[in-house]
Amino acid sequence: MRLKLRIWRQAGPDAPGRLVDYELDGVSPDVSFLEMLDMLNDRLEAAGEAPVAFDQDCREGICGSCSMMVDGEAHGPQAQTTVCQLHMRHFADGDSILVEPWRARAFPVLRDLVVDRAPFDRIIAAGGYVSVATGEAPEANSIPVPKPLSDKAFEAAACIGCGACVAQCPNGAAHLFTAAKIAHLGLLPQGQPERDLRVVAMVEQMEAEGFGSCSNFRECEAVCPKGISIDWIARMNRDYVRAKLRGVERVPLKQ
Ligand code: SF4
Ligand code: FES
Repeated sequence: MRLKLRIWRQAGPDAPGRLVDYELDGVSPDVSFLEMLDMLNDRLEAAGEAPVAFDQDCREGICGSCSMMVDGEAHGPQAQTTVCQLHMRHFADGDSILVEPWRARAFPVLRDLVVDRAPFDRIIAAGGYVSVATGEAPEANSIPVPKPLSDKAFEAAACIGCGACVAQCPNGAAHLFTAAKIAHLGLLPQGQPERDLRVVAMVEQMEAEGFGSCSNFRECEAVCPKGISIDWIARMNRDYVRAKLRGVERVPLKQ
């Protein structure tokens, strides 16, 4: 395949960025999108040019590192597929492909396609854990968890923290990510003692990070590579309102 690539290049957080055109031939339809970028980078380096910086780690759809807009869609055109699992057979010979970093004020560009997703880490640090003693593994397993509940908790826990939901949202909202992280703990018996404190801490940290508001565009759900449902956002909002009506204020959870 022969491709025309238009890629966002930016040397650093404060440097001006611009779209740069590249032509790449000899691309196999069997390689992944990231492998195609590896090919481009090999050629750029051979020509003495700086390679295109992008985040990646597992390349199997589980770590949440890979992150780029492909033709205006977070993770590209394949539903429920991270960009590392997107294969070039979904493109045609001669295609022009636009590649940009996540678009969100709360995720500033560090270099080329790499953005700073530390705001997600700070939302998790605010309360995305259980600090009550659950004992060693055998004791934890002795707490009965109904199967339907553990299935629902697993659905929410499937969020890989990639940030596509934020990048695609016209408001730059982080509600889908935050709601999934709150739900997978809040559904389980072990998550109940801190349920109110957790939702207040994580929602208020999300707001402090400068993410936008949710106005139900549902773009987040449409691009989420793990099929996380916006039903979790409704649950987060209910939990938050209930906690505030009980007078819960944000205090640090034990770490
Ligand atoms: S909710 Fe989906 S899109 Fe958002 S961070 Fe989690 S896995 Fe990524
Ligand atoms: S590189 Fe790990 S999910 Fe894509």
